[in-house]
Amino acid sequence: MSGRPTREPQASQTREIGGVTLHLSAPDSTDQNWIGQDAILQQLLACWLVVDPRDLPLSPRLTGPPGIGKTTLAMAAARLRKQPLFINQCTADTRPEDLIVTPVLAEKGSIAYHASPLVTAMIVGGVCVLDEGNRMNEKSWASLAALLDHRRYAESIVAGITIPAHPDFRVCVTMNEDESTYEIPDYILSRLQPTLGLGFPTREDEMEILKYHLPFAETELLALTVEFLQQAHKLKLDFSPRDGINLLRFAVKRMAQDAHHPIGRDSAWREALFCVLGEEAADLENLARKRRRAMGSQHAPMGLGDLFFDPDDPLHPDAEIDPFDDEDDEDELF
Ligand SMILES: Nc1ncnc2c1ncn2[C@@H]1O[C@H](COP(=O)(O)OP(=O)(O)OP(=O)(O)O)[C@@H](O)[C@H]1O
Ligand SMILES: [Mg+2]
Repeated sequence: MSGRPTREPQASQTREIGGVTLHLSAPDSTDQNWIGQDAILQQLLACWLVVDPRDLPLSPRLTGPPGIGKTTLAMAAARLRKQPLFINQCTADTRPEDLIVTPVLAEKGSIAYHASPLVTAMIVGGVCVLDEGNRMNEKSWASLAALLDHRRYAESIVAGITIPAHPDFRVCVTMNEDESTYEIPDYILSRLQPTLGLGFPTREDEMEILKYHLPFAETELLALTVEFLQQAHKLKLDFSPRDGINLLRFAVKRMAQDAHHPIGRDSAWREALFCVLGEEAADLENLARKRRRAMGSQHAPMGLGDLFFDPDDPLHPDAEIDPFDDEDDEDELF
C-alpha cells in the first residue's frame, strides 16, 4: 500500500466479501441519450450479450478523437441495458488500489475499505466504463488481467480478498487517439477486444446532437455551427461535437447577456469561435493545410512528385482535390 489512508467521506452502502466490509461507490446518474450512429451502439451492445451459459461478454475498446462521444456512447449503452453505471476515470497516477479497494481512515482510527467504481460494478452487476484507459500505467492494468479474461475476478492486496465479478458485470474502456501517457501492454490489449472506432457524425446527426444539448439555441446559430463542424470533418480536422456544444453555449450566453445592447448573431458566433477554438479555426482550409504539412514532414514517404513539386502545388501528382474549390463564395462561412 502506498500513501496514507485518506479521510472517510459520507456514509455509503456496504457489502461483505471474504469477511471484509466494503463501502460501495455511488452509480453515475447522468441521463444521457445516444443520437445517430446506431451501428456502433449495436456493436457495443452485442459485445455485452451472452448467448449461451458457456459464453462470456467481451470488454471492448472505444476509440476516437477527444469529444467525439466515446464516454457518452458507453453511458447510453449501459442505460439501454438498464444496468447501474459506474465510471472509473483513469489517470497517469491511478494506482492498482485506486482501481480496486482503497483503505480510508474511519472513526476511532479504524480503517474502512472503499470499493472503486469498477469493483462496485463487479459486486452489484453493473456496467463499468474505464474512462481514458490509455492514460493508465502498466502496473494498474496488470491488476485487471484476471478480471478481463475468463477468470473474471480481481484481487485486492490491500484488503487481502479476491472479488468475483457478478455474472451481469460488463466493462468497456474508452481511449483517446491523441498521445497516450503510457503504452498499454499487448497482453492487456488482447483482452480489450474488439476495437470500436467512433467516426464523426453526419450532418443530420450533428444537428440532432447540438439540438439535443441546446434545444434553446436559434436555428441559424445551430446551422452555422453544423456547417463549421462538417467542413472541419471533411478536412480531417479534429473539431468535435463537444467543441460545437461549447462554442454554441458561449455564443448563446453572449447574445442573451445584455437585452439593451444585444450582440448580433454573427459576431457572437465568431467571437465564440475565436474564444473556444482559437483564431486559426476561422480559416479551416489553411489550418488543414498546415496540419497536413506538419504530418507530411513527420510520416509521409517521399514520392517522385515530392522531388519536383511543393506539397501545396495543385500540379503535384498526389494533390488532394480541395472540397471547397467549386463552391460559391456565398457558401463560405466568412
Ligand atoms: N451521438 C451523440 N449523442 C449525444 N451526445 C453526443 C453524441 N456525440 C457527442 N455527444 C456530446 O458531445 C460531448 C462530448 O462527448 P464525450 O464526452 O462522450 O466525448 P469523448 O469522446 O468521451 O471525449 P474525451 O476523449 O475527451 O473523453 C458530450 O456533451 C456528449 O453528450
Ligand atoms: Mg470521454
